[in-house]
Amino acid sequence: MLRSVVTGVGGYLPEEVVTNHDLAKIVDTTDAWIVERTGIRQRHRAAPGQAVSDLALIAAQRALQAAGRTPVDVDMIIVGTTTPDLTFPAVATILQRKLGAPQGIAFDIQAVCSGFVYALSTADGFVARGRSRCALVIGAETMTRLMDWTDRGTCVLFGDGAGAVVLEPGQGEGTTADRGLLGFALCADGGKQDLLYVDGGVSTDGKVGKLRMQGNQVFRHAVVNISEAVRAAAADAGVEVSEVDWFIPHQANQRILEGVARRLGIDEKKVISTVAEHANTSAASIPLALDQGLRDGRIKPGQLLLLEAMGGGLTWGACVLRL
Ligand code: UT7
Repeated sequence: MLRSVVTGVGGYLPEEVVTNHDLAKIVDTTDAWIVERTGIRQRHRAAPGQAVSDLALIAAQRALQAAGRTPVDVDMIIVGTTTPDLTFPAVATILQRKLGAPQGIAFDIQAVCSGFVYALSTADGFVARGRSRCALVIGAETMTRLMDWTDRGTCVLFGDGAGAVVLEPGQGEGTTADRGLLGFALCADGGKQDLLYVDGGVSTDGKVGKLRMQGNQVFRHAVVNISEAVRAAAADAGVEVSEVDWFIPHQANQRILEGVARRLGIDEKKVISTVAEHANTSAASIPLALDQGLRDGRIKPGQLLLLEAMGGGLTWGACVLRL
């Protein structure tokens, strides 16, 4: 059977680093509060004029290079983003042009912080059916552009960045020893919209809007929902949660990472955490954490990975893959 195999990974963080101390100069907060409640120490911010497609471009080029592919090979681009360059066209088609990819299909997925797990699961429907031979799956965000810089409850939490993977079909035996995406679980509950949303949009007030969140409510749902999605994705893949080599969570809050690990009996040493340096980069956080784990040598080819996220919608989900 065909499997969707990750053959290359790349990430990009904008140059500017904003520390907690920098933010303490503009809102009533402290480095100590942010570190204790979230684990975040700094975040990266895109430069004026740097659009989300510019971040995605560098991450995509790095992923293609790691896979030994060129833009000419790419036949599908899916970008998980909630902060597009323009209302339309999709970031994916803008990226197709900037990348110089002459063929294929390109579209965005809007599932906020769950964007990457939604995008990867969607791409599997093409790659594992032989409909795409070289897909770029990207999470890219400029969340700092959605911040209300007077709201200390949200503006300290988010950062900008992009991460990309190349997915190619690979022949598997239909066992959990196969390389590739082995299973996933996706969920949504539109009834919880008020907990996390942006208060503007094209067909309402015509504005971009600002991010609004009831943080402690989102926190509570995150630990429960993510744990359920992890169990469901593991069951879909036919693996035990205890077999997983690395958990690569969406990076919203160190306490959420720890809460999920405790609930599932996961050793915290198996959890890749980038939240201290990257903060919450929404759909970009999982591929950025994957890239980090690969570059520092912790994650190795052949290992079993579990990716999980929850975000606005609410949406949540998890994917199991063997690298
Ligand atoms: O990626 C999408 C998913 N998003 C998330 O998963 C975020 C989930 N939520 C969280 O990470 C946490 O709920 C927060 C970090 C947002 C907040 O932490 P918390 O422990 O839930 O605090 P809280 O919202 O219950 O607020 C406690 C206090 C409040 O003051 P009072 O009302 O007790 O006087 C807040 O006003 O902390 C205050 N507070 C702050 N104080 C200093 C909120 N933000 C700050 C701040 N600095 N930046």
